[in-house]
Amino acid sequence: MKIRLEQPHDWHEVENLTREAFWNIYRPGCTEHYVLNQYRSNPDFIPELDFVMEEDGKIIGHICFSKAEIALNQNKIKFKSWTFGPISIHPDYKRKGYGLKLLNYALGKAREMGVGLLCMEGNIDFYKHAGFDLASKLNIHYHDMPHEEVVPFFLAQELLPGFWKGHEGTYCPPKGYFVADENPIAFEAYEKRFPRKIKSFNEWQLPPFAEKAKLVMQSKRLTLRPWMDSDAGMLYKYASDPEVGPRAGWPPHKSAEESLEIIRTLFSGEGMWAVELNETGEVIGCVGYLPATASNLEIEENHAEVGYWIARPYWGMGICTEAMQKVVDYCFNKKGFTVLWGDYFPDNPASGRVMEKIGFHDTGELNYCSRLQVGSDRPVKIMKLELPTTH
Ligand SMILES: CC(C)(COP(=O)(O)OP(=O)(O)OC[C@H]1O[C@@H](n2cnc3c(N)ncnc32)[C@H](O)[C@@H]1OP(=O)(O)O)[C@@H](O)C(=O)NCCC(=O)NCCS
Repeated sequence: MKIRLEQPHDWHEVENLTREAFWNIYRPGCTEHYVLNQYRSNPDFIPELDFVMEEDGKIIGHICFSKAEIALNQNKIKFKSWTFGPISIHPDYKRKGYGLKLLNYALGKAREMGVGLLCMEGNIDFYKHAGFDLASKLNIHYHDMPHEEVVPFFLAQELLPGFWKGHEGTYCPPKGYFVADENPIAFEAYEKRFPRKIKSFNEWQLPPFAEKAKLVMQSKRLTLRPWMDSDAGMLYKYASDPEVGPRAGWPPHKSAEESLEIIRTLFSGEGMWAVELNETGEVIGCVGYLPATASNLEIEENHAEVGYWIARPYWGMGICTEAMQKVVDYCFNKKGFTVLWGDYFPDNPASGRVMEKIGFHDTGELNYCSRLQVGSDRPVKIMKLELPTTH
């Protein structure tokens, strides 16, 4: 095993290692490799503390450090400190002692360079073995938490004893750590440099993702899951097709930025799922329901309206029917709706057919939907599905 400084020719390999190490751990997919990619050109990055670990002739570990600040006296004074991360060990080499070896080596080098105080976010069960403890014990608070709160994942260590001099202050992670959330479209483009991997929501992830994991539904060919910012590029690719949106009452998307905005607004509400192909992880459509308050139709409180679209290359394969069957089951079994409504333009029979195959019947009514962005002047056919009596 060897530890050495990272070199420019290692960059891509190390970013891929970081991606492998963090994939699906804290969120679906991960962003740490992009943070690292962007951070190397940040003035706070410390190239002298940017190490790789090699074993069996390949890079299996990486750690890097950067400068950080702690605000003292209501932000009036900035106290110099440091942080580190991401730290990565390849999944094949985890839980074999490599991480601690790399960390202790790097901490020794940091101390030699005069790094006096480190703050970071991580699991204390691991980092206590390298001398870290709760930052609250040093009176260092976490930026978006009340001061009196002990934040279990916020840790600190005085590498040079007495460096902190018993101050009290507030730490905010360096700005570069949020780069993927701030630039999801650039991040998605960057992701294309790496082998395709399937993102998944899991109950062990950070609270917002763990919460959303409960909404994930699976069928033979599909995963229905909440939308994510990083879907914007793929959404734009298919929702910009002029043959798709207008059939469902909305205009084609004009840019990836517009698609991102739609993900963050319309698609972040209740009852909207991205349709993902299990085989490739590609997002190829959107299915869901609108509760009475958001429906295009005048419907009762415990009724809902269904909606859907599938990317054109995937039409006619039963994909929409497969996905909507899941949504219908969810509406009846989980949400307790008693009636589901659907509507479609008469010149879009494929949509009517999807509903028919799921059991909707034609009410014979025609209606105008004033809330539609496209086609509010054209009548739609109204379809209805009642809760099956076996329920
Ligand atoms: C409507 C839409 C979601 C269907 O998706 P899909 O995955 O192709 O649907 P499925 O394959 O599950 O089912 C489509 C059914 O329509 C049938 N169909 C397709 N074109 C048809 C046509 N012109 N006339 C009659 N039936 C047609 C298919 O044969 C299939 O029925 P079958 O299985 O009995 O053969 C898709 O065409 C779409 O996204 N359209 C644009 C947006 C839209 O119209 N959304 C609905 C708004 S109300």
